Amino acid sequence: MDSRLRGNDECGVAVTIENQDALSEIASAATLAELEAIRVRMLGKSGTITALLKTLGGMTPEQRQAEGPKIHALREAVTQAIADRKATLEGAALEARLATEKLDMSLPVSVGMQGSVHPVAQVMDELAEIFADLGFAVATGPEIEDDWHNFTALNIPETHPARAMHDTFYFPDAEDGRKMLLRTHTSPVQIRTMMTEKPPIRIIAPGRTYRSDSDATHTPMFHQVEGLVIDRGIHMGHLKWTLETFVKAFFERDDIVLRLRPSFFPFTEPSAEVDVGFTWEKGRRVIGGDPTAANGGWMEILGSGMVHSRVIANCGLDPDEWQGFAFGCGIDRLAMLKYGMDDLRAFFDGDLRWLKHYGFAALDVPTLSGGVGA
Ligand code: PHE
Repeated sequence: MDSRLRGNDECGVAVTIENQDALSEIASAATLAELEAIRVRMLGKSGTITALLKTLGGMTPEQRQAEGPKIHALREAVTQAIADRKATLEGAALEARLATEKLDMSLPVSVGMQGSVHPVAQVMDELAEIFADLGFAVATGPEIEDDWHNFTALNIPETHPARAMHDTFYFPDAEDGRKMLLRTHTSPVQIRTMMTEKPPIRIIAPGRTYRSDSDATHTPMFHQVEGLVIDRGIHMGHLKWTLETFVKAFFERDDIVLRLRPSFFPFTEPSAEVDVGFTWEKGRRVIGGDPTAANGGWMEILGSGMVHSRVIANCGLDPDEWQGFAFGCGIDRLAMLKYGMDDLRAFFDGDLRWLKHYGFAALDVPTLSGGVGA
């Protein structure tokens, strides 16, 4: 490229630009403001290069063919040089700012009041994590239920004595006549999941439940976790393995034995209550160890069974094709057993001293022993 370009002065515009001069002027711009002034002077509306471009209009086709590429190349080169210089100047400006604006990270921060994670929330997180490793999703449902989802669909018809086992809080009937209540267990989430999702289903449903009951081990509001598996060919062996794997991961011990005792729930058949072995260690009852030893025993921790074929049919699934198991467990009780509290009512008193003592730091990583199967 010629280092000197001269516009067509026959059409009245005479502009001469020394190519190298332009580029070195750009390269030596000391500030962004200076660079911007150069840009306006060369490429702005009445800039020198803009003027050169305008001369193309008055040229003969031959002249234009000869001059056009040069003028465009000049504009390209100047535009690029300005962009390069701009990047360099901006980088230098940032460097300079970083050098002066130092942040002293070693200064101690004043820590005000800090909250903590409630043991129930902590245990819910641990449950979700353990069951996620086994392929279970977390499902939720409403706490204000109708009696169809809470009872009828679960094979507890209106006159069934099992309804009396649950001290239910009722609301006035809904406008469409449905009997409304505070759910007495998390089992209605089974129903809602089976009605909206196609098997195979693997869920846990942790959440609040309500019964009119209050003493050292019962509060009117408490927490349960429901487990549900629906697939082809599911049997009690799957249930037992799942519960064993869960209990060992949750209590972080491998020497836990389970005992399944025949029981009754209207929504499972057969049904089993599940006991875990415990031993007294240093004056504390600890899950694990030999329940038949002198310092050992059994403790019931959950209800379970194979989902009743009538429940599966109530949800619109064919019980000849789909089987499954379910279990239900008190979360508060799990927390008491794992972290050593003995009065359930204190869980919900909101006493800051209790929360400080039993709460978990918000950034604590759940203390699972490497998860299931580790
Ligand atoms: N819903 C039962 C209860 O609250 C627990 C349970 C759930 C039992 C699932 C068996 C299967 O008592």
